[in-house]
Amino acid sequence: MRENARLRAVAPGRVNLIGDHTDYMGGLVLPMAVHLATTIEFDRGGDALELSSAQFSGVAHVPLPVMDPTAVTPSWARYPAGVAAELGSTTGFVGRIDSAIPPGAGLSSSAALEVATALALGFDGSPTELARVCRDAEQRATGVPCGIMDQLASAAGRAGHALLIDCATDEVRHVEVPDELEFWVVHSGEQRSLDTSAYATRRAECETAAALIGALPSAAHDAIATLHDPVVRARAHHVRTECDRVRAAAEALGAGDASAMGALMVESHQSLRDDFEVSTPGIDALVDAALERPGVRGARITGAGFGGCIVVLADPIADLGELGTDRWQVRPSDGARVVAK
Ligand code: GLA
Repeated sequence: MRENARLRAVAPGRVNLIGDHTDYMGGLVLPMAVHLATTIEFDRGGDALELSSAQFSGVAHVPLPVMDPTAVTPSWARYPAGVAAELGSTTGFVGRIDSAIPPGAGLSSSAALEVATALALGFDGSPTELARVCRDAEQRATGVPCGIMDQLASAAGRAGHALLIDCATDEVRHVEVPDELEFWVVHSGEQRSLDTSAYATRRAECETAAALIGALPSAAHDAIATLHDPVVRARAHHVRTECDRVRAAAEALGAGDASAMGALMVESHQSLRDDFEVSTPGIDALVDAALERPGVRGARITGAGFGGCIVVLADPIADLGELGTDRWQVRPSDGARVVAK
C-alpha cells in the first residue's frame, strides 16, 4: 500500500572548515552543513527501493531486505541500498533523487544521499543515531572505513552555525558563524573516488600509531617522537596537531576572528599536505592562488583529499577572480528533514 502524500527528504552536503582525517581516530572536526543539498521525492510503500536520479542514468530496482549492497546496480544505488541493509528495511519507496552537491568533490554527496534515504525509509531517531546508521551504511556499501563527520554534519546541521564534533563521543556543539565571515568552496576540477584512494591506508597507519602510543588526539608529543616509522610518526603528528587547531578554530570562529581562523586553515592545509600526504599538486596550487587574492584570509583542502575542493575564508569584499573550475559561496544550513512537497 502506498501512502498518498508525496514527501520530500532533504539532506545537506557539508564543507569541513577544519579537522580532516581526525574523525575516525576519535578526534575533533569543525564542519558546516551547506545549502547545497540532496532531495528525494518519495512515495513510501512496496517491498523494494525504486529509484531514479536527475543526475545519473539508470533506474535502480532494489528488492528488500537488502543483503549485499555492494552488488547493487547502478553503482550510485549502493548508498541507498546500504542504508536499507543497515536498517533491515522491508518496506521501501518509489523515489526520485535530485542533488545540487557535485559528486566526488569532497562535499559529502554520498552522506547526503544516505541520510535522505534513511529519512525516506521512515528512520525515527536522534541526529546522532541517524548519522551512525548512515556511516555504517557507507562502510558496508563501499568498504571505505569512513568516520562519522559527514553524516553527522548532514543530520545535525543548524542554519547560521558550524558544528564542533568530538568524534570520541559524537557530541555536537553548534558554533555560530558570524555573517561577515564568508566561506567559499572552490573546485579544483580533480574528481576522486574514495574506494580507490589511499583513505583506508591512511586510517591503518593512524591505527598502527594508536596501537603503540594510545589515542592520537591526546597523545603526548614526546610519545609521538618515539614512533620509529617516519610515515606513521607523521600521520600521528597530523592527527594530534589538527585536533589542537580545531579547538582553536572553534574559538576563533565564535569570536569572529578571521585572521586567526585563516591562519589555522593554512596550517591545516600544510599538515594535510606534508604530514598526511592527501593533497595533490593541483590542490596545492589552487590554495596558493586563493591566498594571493585580495580579501582572502585562509584556504585549505577540505574533506578526504586526493582531489576535490578547497574551502576559502574571505572577507565580503574579496575578489576571487577566476579561481577554480567552479565555486560556490556556502551558507551554514539546517540539517536533514522531511517536508511535504
Ligand atoms: C571523508 C570521510 C570522513 C572523514 C573525511 C576526512 O569525508 O567520509 O569520515 O574522514 O573524509 O576528514
